[in-house]
Amino acid sequence: MQIEAVKTAYRRYAAVYDAVFGPVLQPGRKAVMQALGLRPGDRVLEVGVGTGLSLPLYPRDVKITGIDLSREMLEKARRRVERRHLPNVEALLEMDAENMTFPDASFDKIVAMYVLPVVENPQKLLHELHRVCRADGDIFIVNHVRSDNRLIAAFEKGLARFSDTIGFHADFELRDMVSSADEVTELSRINYFWRVMRLRNGMAHRLP
Ligand SMILES: C[S@@+](CC[C@H](N)C(=O)[O-])C[C@H]1O[C@@H](n2cnc3c(N)ncnc32)[C@H](O)[C@@H]1O
Repeated sequence: MQIEAVKTAYRRYAAVYDAVFGPVLQPGRKAVMQALGLRPGDRVLEVGVGTGLSLPLYPRDVKITGIDLSREMLEKARRRVERRHLPNVEALLEMDAENMTFPDASFDKIVAMYVLPVVENPQKLLHELHRVCRADGDIFIVNHVRSDNRLIAAFEKGLARFSDTIGFHADFELRDMVSSADEVTELSRINYFWRVMRLRNGMAHRLP
């Protein structure tokens, strides 16, 4: 999706996002928290943090930065941080995950939940995630798996032309995006469509 289409889609979604995508996507958010293996003081970046539904799930002794393209989604996240008293959330920034302003190796762990099927250029995003992650850090992704049921796969393919309207690419598949240098591990299955994946960081992705 193009940046302006993302902003328009999530400006519309912001008011109803928690009701529509809160409980239904919560198992994935919880599964990522289990997988992260956070240690006190870890610096975590969550890209596409949205309305911040995951923020109360992080341990209180880590430092979280969230970014998102949508001002309206971030506004909801900021209100949640205030309401839930979350001092471990250090910053919520309006920023394009494909062009981040953070220096290299700024974070110990990076989280991207339900974001890759939304962004304009997933490969560029993956490069950026590797760049801002510590050299031996980990990147955790809630990843869509294209259905091997032919009917569902055809439905997902059909939905692809409405991506800008519905706000994501229904036929997205992470494995099409990663290079052979990526070490990808499937950590858990959330349901039929979604998996928690870990990408090990490595020098292969450092931009020249
Ligand atoms: C499906 S929502 C997921 C929100 C959240 N991760 C959750 O679990 O509910 C996708 C989010 O990614 C954000 N997004 C899309 N493209 C982005 C980009 N290039 N940079 C930063 N955020 C982006 C959207 O604004 C939206 O808030």
